[in-house]
Amino acid sequence: MLTPKLEYPIFTFDQRELLSAGTMLSPETVTELIEKNKVIEESYPLFTYGRAKKDLFHFIAQPPYTIIFADQKVNDSVLKNMEKVILPLPILDGLYHFRRKDFYTYRHILMVSALSTLLAEQLISDQHELAREMIAGSTHDIGKLCVPFDILKKESPLTAAEREALKHHTLAGYVLVSYYFQDVRHFAARVARDHHERKDGSGYPRGIKLHDPMIDIITVCDIYDALIAQRPYRPESFENRTALEELTWQANSGKISIKVVQALIAVNRTKKTPYSECKVSDERRGRVPTENVYGITDS
Ligand SMILES: [Fe+2]
Ligand SMILES: [Fe+2]
Repeated sequence: MLTPKLEYPIFTFDQRELLSAGTMLSPETVTELIEKNKVIEESYPLFTYGRAKKDLFHFIAQPPYTIIFADQKVNDSVLKNMEKVILPLPILDGLYHFRRKDFYTYRHILMVSALSTLLAEQLISDQHELAREMIAGSTHDIGKLCVPFDILKKESPLTAAEREALKHHTLAGYVLVSYYFQDVRHFAARVARDHHERKDGSGYPRGIKLHDPMIDIITVCDIYDALIAQRPYRPESFENRTALEELTWQANSGKISIKVVQALIAVNRTKKTPYSECKVSDERRGRVPTENVYGITDS
């Protein structure tokens, strides 16, 4: 399914319909949309808009990020790099909409951006690629603007239909990021679309076998933050160790990158060692939260 069909429409933040349900979503469709609606949006640094910088300081001061960002030099470098993230105004407005309406998603987007910047600094040597990675982290879930808040914040198991509506955020993100950056080939647009794909083809929306070392970084950070954070459907979050065991299991099952998981485990150690020297055990000793209804579909 390389050209997916949209099950739901795609709207801008100000409720303009960009594409209707039933549209076959190819890069050509999005290019046509961009050509028809040439809008050059003003762009601003993420950190000068609203409270993003202050909020991020607060988020990285919460465990387990306190250990990950414990080294002041590392911290400074990540924040200095993130100062360079410049986003179109409607995306910044969208991010702030989450801050007001769904704080979890707002926090998650900022943390995935910071953590993927940290890991990318270690795994990617090219500065240009690093800059792309940082932008992509901060826009990866922006398509959730096209998912009703009562689904995003639902506390009980999602129905099959609600789960499909949630999955729509990947294609919606692809279109919104392409549209606002006026570039269907923008790396952040691909990340918005592909960050739930898996190496063995078991992900969504297209079920492709993901082979992109840069998207791999965001995928791992995305799962990690989702596990350790409090979610509406799971009052108790995963303990850090259990989350890392879960990621190791997923990597050993061929779903995500073991190299990125290794880098994540290395930054989680109090005594920081280079990721290539970090030994990863595949023993599972942690306890998965009992009230976890993630992945359970209500009938
Ligand atoms: Fe997502
Ligand atoms: Fe995410």
